[in-house]
Amino acid sequence: MPGAKEVTIVEVGPRDGFQNLAAFIPTERKAEIIEKLAEAGVKKIEFSSFVHPKWIPQLADAADLYRLIKGRPGLELRALIPNEKGLERAIESGVKEITWVVGATDSGNTANLNMTTEQSLEIIRRVGKRVHGAGVKLYGAIAYALGDPVEGDVPLARLIHVIEVFRSIGDTAISLADSIGIASPQKIRDTIPGLFRAFPDARWSIHLHNILGLGIANALAAWECGVTVFESSIAGLGGCPYAPYPGGNVATEELVYMFNKLGVSTGIDLDRLIAARDWVRSIVGEKPPKQVGHPEGT
Ligand code: COA
Ligand code: ZN
Repeated sequence: MPGAKEVTIVEVGPRDGFQNLAAFIPTERKAEIIEKLAEAGVKKIEFSSFVHPKWIPQLADAADLYRLIKGRPGLELRALIPNEKGLERAIESGVKEITWVVGATDSGNTANLNMTTEQSLEIIRRVGKRVHGAGVKLYGAIAYALGDPVEGDVPLARLIHVIEVFRSIGDTAISLADSIGIASPQKIRDTIPGLFRAFPDARWSIHLHNILGLGIANALAAWECGVTVFESSIAGLGGCPYAPYPGGNVATEELVYMFNKLGVSTGIDLDRLIAARDWVRSIVGEKPPKQVGHPEGT
């Protein structure tokens, strides 16, 4: 089944891509990278996260970076948060779009956020309506939505439970994250239509990693299932440092290339994007994204 003729790409490189780089990229440099991506036609960028600076020192400058980049017309900027403290910091900094990440599995959420899925959801139930009330756009990101290296398959009912909580606090768009690149096109086909049926009014995006080389195939399957918003990272940088099998995101330039070949509009100029990609590589180093082995049996 052919997908939409127009899709949206959300660049998550400055958050997901940079978070596991050891050498600190100066804030001004990060702002320049974001500017270059915007010049190539990227309209939505996850620029950083308000996580504990000791856990992710690279992103300790989230508030300062936001001050530098927030004025650009036509650019939507969002920040990731893990908990209530992160929420407070993001709101204090004036951020208007917030991605709240929750792991679909207890093992994944505990490794990442030091709490169970239910503990995260309890906080969201308690403070979520306040966020929507404050005029902030909230996105609910579900990590390990398409599989977990410890717990294995994630039942649809569990995803539905997490999504129900996000939807109970307001019109929260849902991002399904394959945090460790464990999904396959078939897994996508087995999951997404059921979720679309369960929440016909919801807005969706997909966040894919590419550890096993299936990132683009998974993106194609998601597009065929009707997904229109794709999260990706310039140069395929990326990976959660607290995931047991971290690895790069689907590369934005490869995604744009695929959609160009399908005749699907992304609004992004591939030549300018590739120039930006080369420039980003010259800053962060030529090191390719981490490629690691497959967690057998999951
Ligand atoms: N930003 C800044 N400080 C934070 C914070 C945040 N988002 N969340 C908690 N803290 C502070 C608390 O204020 C507290 O400070 P204090 O000791 O001065 O009182 C301290 O950290 C401990 O708080 P606690 O709630 O017990 O945190 P924790 O140690 O259980 O860690 C997280 C929880 C979420 C902060 C931590 O797991 C984290 O930052 N993880 C990063 C996950 C991530 O970014 N993964 C990649 C993206 S998916
Ligand atoms: Zn990710």
